[in-house]
Amino acid sequence: MNNILIVTSSANGEASVSSRLAKAHAAQLAAAHPGARIVRRDVGADPIPHLTHVTVAAIKGTPESAAELEARALSDTLVAELVEADLVVIASPMYNFGMSSTLKSWFDHVARAGLTFRYTADGPEGLLKGKQAVLIESRAGFYSEGAGAAMDGQEPHIRTLLGFIGITDVTVVRAEKLAFGPEAAEASIAAAGEALGAAVRLAA
Ligand SMILES: Cc1cc2nc3c(=O)[nH]c(=O)nc-3n(C[C@H](O)[C@H](O)[C@H](O)COP(=O)(O)O)c2cc1C
Repeated sequence: MNNILIVTSSANGEASVSSRLAKAHAAQLAAAHPGARIVRRDVGADPIPHLTHVTVAAIKGTPESAAELEARALSDTLVAELVEADLVVIASPMYNFGMSSTLKSWFDHVARAGLTFRYTADGPEGLLKGKQAVLIESRAGFYSEGAGAAMDGQEPHIRTLLGFIGITDVTVVRAEKLAFGPEAAEASIAAAGEALGAAVRLAA
């Protein structure tokens, strides 16, 4: 394990459950892989701009204006961080049944034809093969089984996006029921922390 990318995406700063779990996981990973380079990208604190006609022209076409060159440089940087990573840890709070718009915008910038995926005669092919991902989810409700599962627009979407760019080895850790009272929240956060520790031990 040489390069680890940690993407956090909560708007809730230090109080964020998903960012706290990601921070603890980063410490676990650093201990298990002392030589690894850890790159942190916090799109919650420092949001990636939403796509505009400038960004789309910059990413899909040939950038010309200063704004287009700047937009292309950001996308190139984000793609490079991802391409270099052996392991990508994504911390995702659920907002309105999906991922945060800032994380979606990160995906909008890293799903790049010819760099992270391509279309072939047989359909799309992800180009980032051989990477591992850990997806840390935090949500107030309960969606991993039962009636709530049909409302989960977060986990299936993120899995689809990762798979589309070739990342299929995904370990999902969920902190759920965070609004079901302090005991349920504490138990869920503790279980998520243990699951992350187990993921490090398994990969070591
Ligand atoms: C704008 C917003 C929308 C939310 N929408 C949902 C939701 O649809 N379902 C849910 O279970 N929790 C929802 N929540 C609660 C968050 O998922 C929960 O507070 C979680 O802990 C956020 O992650 P974080 O602590 O890492 O910021 C929402 C929170 C915010 C701020």
